[in-house]
Amino acid sequence: MNLTFLVFLGSARNSSPPYPARLGLRVAKACAARLEASGAGVELVDPLEYEFTPVFKPHFAYARGEAPAALDHLAGRIASADGYVMVSPEYNHSMSPTLAHLLNHFGSSLFAFKPSAIVTYSAGQWGGARAAVGMRTFLSELGCLPVSAMIHIPKAQEVLEEDGSCRAGQDAEAWTGYFGRTLGQLEWWAAAARDGRAARDPQAQSPAFRRRVSERDAPASG
Ligand SMILES: Cc1cc2nc3c(=O)[nH]c(=O)nc-3n(C[C@H](O)[C@H](O)[C@H](O)COP(=O)(O)O)c2cc1C
Repeated sequence: MNLTFLVFLGSARNSSPPYPARLGLRVAKACAARLEASGAGVELVDPLEYEFTPVFKPHFAYARGEAPAALDHLAGRIASADGYVMVSPEYNHSMSPTLAHLLNHFGSSLFAFKPSAIVTYSAGQWGGARAAVGMRTFLSELGCLPVSAMIHIPKAQEVLEEDGSCRAGQDAEAWTGYFGRTLGQLEWWAAAARDGRAARDPQAQSPAFRRRVSERDAPASG
């Protein structure tokens, strides 16, 4: 069976300046196209499609059957995916607060024992590399360990068209190779993790905590 991936888009900025708005959409489309070309099933998760309550209430805080339908639906998609692509702009040298907020709605057990890929971009010259550093910590704690290679796209508006294809004048082959290194790692780990989950139940070896974060604390001394 084909692998399935969720591509999380970290951009909810539908206004400018800075121009262009939602630069991340074309980056997410480029990742999706690369994964689809190798036969994977890909779904985009767009934060603009979710309305969150002003008071933060994550999916796991609702009683069974009482979570908002959209949140419940996304939890199911996260649970059934084989891996994740996290596409983030760099805001003040940090990952997108929109992406962090979206991900914070879900428990790590939904993501656990599956890989992720870090993809950052910017309108300027750094390509979101500083945001990516923090994303590695964030995603590791979330349970979907990031693969070692990362994608950073400086001046993404000059590299990609709105549909995610390479702009004229860019070295399309070099960009395909660059994307392929990270997304190839993601596919390899996703296939290996799927085989591993089928062979041995990861929860039997390392159960998720159920109610209290302290369930994973070191035992009290003395
Ligand atoms: C609040 C804010 C903070 C930003 N901070 C950075 C930054 O730290 N580094 C950077 O390279 N670009 C930064 N930028 C510029 C973004 O790279 C650029 O606006 C990009 O288009 C953002 O992605 P988006 O359109 O998908 O939101 C910032 C933009 C905004 C709106």
